[in-house]
Amino acid sequence: MNNNMIIARSERALRGQIWEWRGLGETIAFVPTMGALHAGHMSLVEMAKREADKVVVSIFVNPTQFAEGEDLDSYPRTEEADLALLDAHGADLIYIPKDGSMYNAHHATSIKVGGVADGLETDHRPTFFDGVSLVVTKLLNRVAPDIAVFGEKDYQQLATIRRLVEDLDMPIQILGAPIARDDHGLALSSRNQYFDAEGLAIARRLNEIMRHCALQMERGENVDVARDIAAKALLTAGFSGIDYIEVRSPNSLTVLEGGILNGPARLLVAAHCRGVRLIDNFPVEPH
Ligand code: PAF
Repeated sequence: MNNNMIIARSERALRGQIWEWRGLGETIAFVPTMGALHAGHMSLVEMAKREADKVVVSIFVNPTQFAEGEDLDSYPRTEEADLALLDAHGADLIYIPKDGSMYNAHHATSIKVGGVADGLETDHRPTFFDGVSLVVTKLLNRVAPDIAVFGEKDYQQLATIRRLVEDLDMPIQILGAPIARDDHGLALSSRNQYFDAEGLAIARRLNEIMRHCALQMERGENVDVARDIAAKALLTAGFSGIDYIEVRSPNSLTVLEGGILNGPARLLVAAHCRGVRLIDNFPVEPH
């Protein structure tokens, strides 16, 4: 490692280093990840670097956020490449908890966020945010950062974590980083590496179709009409199914009634392409 980047594989090593930095008056920003890192993650690291003296990144494929039949076993694990990328981007400490050290055999606590975590993803992955909320709480407790950075790509996850941190009185500022996209507009995701060339070409249509949908709503098209047109376009493009195309208020994620938008909203989508589930979201700002 060129950058004197520290790798901590135990909670003790992590806390010891954080303690030392705290003693020197350094501020700490934290980026939790599940590894398989790409340029999207690096944009979170860059944001963290701008906001604090030290940047801590965790790599942990969290079993509690995967349901039965999901890709926990096959989720890409690329530790060596991840560490090289993080070193090149100037991260200061990488926390890689050992398997089994996150949840002990007696673990019996769960965390359920309501409100923003209801609907959307939860309708299709009912235990997902329980798993995310639990691991994020544990990681925030262990790292005890001043700031934590999450991607806006997982828009409902970001809203859920903001709610969790506020409700549990954690003195941590949560920052959302803009979605990083490839040259064709596809939101970067660790799961994009599951695509072959044909699948990738289909996946890349999502951005264009959803942007058009957002534009129609901004111009006063009825929300249901615009969503129907987008759904048909996705299926025609080769998507095999759509979990949701929904328009919500940007912060509280409440359902917007009325058919025609008259204020800012967020368009959220989850759709299946060649066995990969893609999620994305777009601002809608009616003129
Ligand atoms: O967004 C992710 O990669 C994960 O959900 C997170 C926040 C690292 C928790 O495991």
